[in-house]
Amino acid sequence: MDALEIEGPVRLDGTVHISGSKNAALPIMAATLLAPGESVIEQVPRLADIAVLGQLLQSLGARVERDGADIHIDTTKIDHPVGEYDIVRKMRASICILGPLLARCGRAKVSMPGGCAIGDRPVDIHLRGLRALGAQIHLENGYIVATVPPGGLRGGPIFLGGPFGSTVLGTANVMMAATLAQGRTIIESAACEPEIADLANCLNAMGARVHGIGSPRLIVDGVTRLTPVRHRIIGDRIEAGTFLVAAGLTGGRLTLTNCQPDNMVAVVDRLAHIGVAVEARDDGCVVRRTGELRPADVTTQPYPGFPTDLQAQFMAMLALAEGNSVITEKIFPDRFMHVAELNRMAANIRKEGPCAIVAGVRELIAAPVMASDLRASAALVLAGLAAWGKTVVHRVYHIDRGYERIEEKLNAAGARIVRKDL
Ligand code: EPZ
Repeated sequence: MDALEIEGPVRLDGTVHISGSKNAALPIMAATLLAPGESVIEQVPRLADIAVLGQLLQSLGARVERDGADIHIDTTKIDHPVGEYDIVRKMRASICILGPLLARCGRAKVSMPGGCAIGDRPVDIHLRGLRALGAQIHLENGYIVATVPPGGLRGGPIFLGGPFGSTVLGTANVMMAATLAQGRTIIESAACEPEIADLANCLNAMGARVHGIGSPRLIVDGVTRLTPVRHRIIGDRIEAGTFLVAAGLTGGRLTLTNCQPDNMVAVVDRLAHIGVAVEARDDGCVVRRTGELRPADVTTQPYPGFPTDLQAQFMAMLALAEGNSVITEKIFPDRFMHVAELNRMAANIRKEGPCAIVAGVRELIAAPVMASDLRASAALVLAGLAAWGKTVVHRVYHIDRGYERIEEKLNAAGARIVRKDL
């Protein structure tokens, strides 16, 4: 099984091109189900999760072909509206085919997503939203079985707020289904993530009528038909955030291209507090450390708050800050699998409920560590860049789910990482 061997400490210096956003590409690929014919999605990263969604769309009847950074998806024929367990179990985000499949075919059967290392992840709000559009839904042998009522889906007011605030893929599912519903749908407490805005822009390019994009109140006026589209997805702000931390943690200087700093305001705010300066540029930004790392409190929240998908990476950096930091995880309260692994590298972190108390240490020491999920694995790779000695990160298949060629990009900026089959 692949592992990454990382020699440290290093100081990064160079330019990194940020890939297209995984979390925008996934729902946008699913949205092609709404518009029979061939759509082309541009700058889609080569990731395991993208490949799984491609496989899923093919199992529904679509033709999916990659042409360099573009993916061609032909959804003329969708004759098997069933998201099989064997595919869905590989990636929870597969749930985002439910809304478009239901709207397109009038019926859909999708396996319930299974458990997840980052915590409890129910889909009750997705189902609540689709039921509010008139869908009849029941669970059968681990599958969600949904059908539209005679006359089709019907728009109306829907509140999508949950115990942890808005839901990203829940908003995606309901918004996509509402595009072909009769009448107006008003989604309150909608997710405002840039990936949802990118999806909404793509839907409007297909002929949908989505208003209030980027706000917690989305208004969708149903239409009878959508047409295929060519759409370029946004840069990946979580990948960009990971490289911003890499520069801060190693005391380096990086130029990031193909990313939008104004999608990362909360992140840049915390970095400034910690002593890492980010300057916007035409097509990206330049990041560099301005002094010793300072401690900071970080609380994860729905966008535009601080993203939970950068919590682990910031923890790795704050482990070397001069003082104590408190990290509060308000989206996935159990998302702390990386704490024990960072402590194996001589960090000093204590978990207390949904918080982690990070007492900064002078240095991290290399060790063999185990990745548990996508972002935790990124945090361990970053820690390895700063640690003294050779860190070995096992189970890097997690990182391949969400980072395109991460070791090549880091090595091009001065890291010393080798991928090995151990
Ligand atoms: C998206 O997941 C992202 N995935 C996640 O990124 C990200 O961590 C998450 O949003 C939060 O920002 C993709 O976009 C593919 P949610 P999603 O529904 O949509 C609760 C990564 O590393 N909830 O916004 O599945 C839920 O349990 C991944 O790239 C319900 O209670 O997350 C969580 O506590 C990991 N009921 C909170 O809401 C529901 O029906 C937010 O989850 C839905 C969600």
